[in-house]
Amino acid sequence: MPLRVYDKVFENVLVRMDAERAHHLTYDALRAGGPALRRIAPPETDPVELMGLRFPNRLGLAPGFDKTAQVWDRMGAFGFGHVEIGTVTALAQPGNPTPRLFRLPEDRAIVNRMGFNNDGAEAVARRLAKRRDRRGSRESVVLGVNIGKSKVVPDDDQTAVEADYETSASLLAPYADYLVVNVSSPNTPGLRNLQAVEKLAPLLAHVRRSADAATDRTGRDRVPLLVKIAPDLADEDVSAVADMALDLGLAGIIATNTTISRDGLRSDHAKVEACGAGGLSGAPLRERSTEVVRLLRERVGDRLTLIGVGGIGTPQDARERLAAGADLVQVYSGLIYGGPSWPRQVLKGL
Ligand SMILES: Cc1cc2nc3c(=O)[nH]c(=O)nc-3n(C[C@H](O)[C@H](O)[C@H](O)COP(=O)(O)O)c2cc1C
Repeated sequence: MPLRVYDKVFENVLVRMDAERAHHLTYDALRAGGPALRRIAPPETDPVELMGLRFPNRLGLAPGFDKTAQVWDRMGAFGFGHVEIGTVTALAQPGNPTPRLFRLPEDRAIVNRMGFNNDGAEAVARRLAKRRDRRGSRESVVLGVNIGKSKVVPDDDQTAVEADYETSASLLAPYADYLVVNVSSPNTPGLRNLQAVEKLAPLLAHVRRSADAATDRTGRDRVPLLVKIAPDLADEDVSAVADMALDLGLAGIIATNTTISRDGLRSDHAKVEACGAGGLSGAPLRERSTEVVRLLRERVGDRLTLIGVGGIGTPQDARERLAAGADLVQVYSGLIYGGPSWPRQVLKGL
């Protein structure tokens, strides 16, 4: 019963620690435990075909957990059918000063301002090249690669922004089952301005061309391209992104990233204030994320794949997200509060 043992460690040790330290401990344990974890059989589930890929099930691990692609291929043991790594930026960067990750247990929520700490696209590509010589392997977890803007690149210099995303797309598309352009993290100044369709459309077209050139060069299949959006967009902006995604022939949309809103929290106001700026994830995000998925589905019909993420904490939440129109769901904060056997419970509920 190794998962039960992990649960006890989680309940008694990890939740009492500084949140980022607990993450590093867990991450290091996953790295060290690779061979053992790969031997744990993934749960029996019904596969689903989307975007030309075969997903073992509808549950995925959202980006932010495996920013540097060192543990994604062992997360199938916990029940995940797909893992989205990243966000990866063209340039390696340390992210924001610590502390930058906080739990709000009364709300089953997390506040983070990590700021895309990662090793950079080149190092991540090298790591993926070693671990993966072909895409879409039938047995394995589906690998999504989420790319974002390097902090030093000014968001109002469209040429520089496109060149920066191009570097990541060119290096990483050959190893990704699907590629995601992230323009929705609140922790890179100016990043979310790129969600305006007049900036986003040329950026996505540029990433599409860069990814195609890279996969052509390496003799790989064309990689499905998606965009990840914020829950704080107004409804009309969500619709505008949906129309643009259809115009550009994107494969899908991921909704949503974290919110900058602090409305309706149960946690003590001073505690919330003490966290400072950052993106809020977990239960308080559930309603808006569901609403955004519903809006998107109404707008795009069955023409795009939608991945629903934000505030999924129970099997019921996951079912509701699928009922609202998501093809796949992803989780992050729920895993932090639920522990390692929680994803399998969610899966059973699906
Ligand atoms: C610590 C942390 C780091 C995250 N880092 C990223 C990231 O690098 N890129 C990204 O697209 N989303 C990132 N996210 C957002 C998640 O992928 C997800 O969209 C969000 O947390 C909502 O899902 P949840 O309520 O299940 O956590 C991060 C979330 C957390 C909690």
